[in-house]
Amino acid sequence: MQSELLRDDQSRSPEERPRPERLRTDCPVLLSERLVLRAPHEEDIDALANLANNAKVATMVSRMPHPYTVNDAADFVRRTKQGGIGKCVYAITKADNGLFLGCCGIEPIDDGTVEIGYWLGEPYWNRGYMTEAAHALIDMVFRTRDIDQIDARCRVVNIGSRRVIQKCGFQFQGSAMFPSLAMGSLVAVEWFRLDRKTWMSLRSWGGMR
Ligand SMILES: CC(C)(COP(=O)(O)OP(=O)(O)OC[C@H]1O[C@@H](n2cnc3c(N)ncnc32)[C@H](O)[C@@H]1OP(=O)(O)O)[C@@H](O)C(=O)NCCC(=O)NCCS
Repeated sequence: MQSELLRDDQSRSPEERPRPERLRTDCPVLLSERLVLRAPHEEDIDALANLANNAKVATMVSRMPHPYTVNDAADFVRRTKQGGIGKCVYAITKADNGLFLGCCGIEPIDDGTVEIGYWLGEPYWNRGYMTEAAHALIDMVFRTRDIDQIDARCRVVNIGSRRVIQKCGFQFQGSAMFPSLAMGSLVAVEWFRLDRKTWMSLRSWGGMR
């Protein structure tokens, strides 16, 4: 019986084979009060190139080239379409008019952990958008994936990102030096973690009052 199942499984294409829960790849569209998080597409390329071509953005994330060209944006959209096991990349857009604001996503670190990453175009900072997007993303990850924790990292100098991380309930784990593509060097980074039990506690807190 087992060998039949094995044979049957091997006769299917990789896409048709059932995936273990931990390796889920589905990235549903996410809705929040003011935002829609959906897959990036070709129509985003101009706005993406325009907003990402900013040293204040590139030097705060680990792998964004600077300067950032339309070709970089087109390449990014193409690569996100190819996907990766357990990986989700979202365009963050305004719910009322579809305006492209930035990107966020998750990437698997190991069997039980994914890491969250994000950036917004500078005109949209300090309006609570990233915290709202991160809440939606984190809820989706814990609800749809059999993982124990989500990690987040930010540069020591990144006050805004640290605040987003804190407002999502992440706990400080430690500091380290990490490579930054735009800086062309190692930079000091803080590492935070949100475990499932803490997330469940935060989610239920409001309902207990
Ligand atoms: C980091 C980033 C995503 C934050 O997005 P955002 O939508 O502005 O975040 P929010 O508005 O949800 O929250 C930002 C918080 O930081 C605070 N903040 C920002 N700059 C600050 C500063 N210089 N001093 C003190 N607080 C600051 C804001 O007041 C806000 O906190 P509050 O709601 O308690 O007042 C955005 O600034 C960005 O994309 N920066 C460049 C790329 C980047 O850093 N990506 C993250 C890599 S780890």
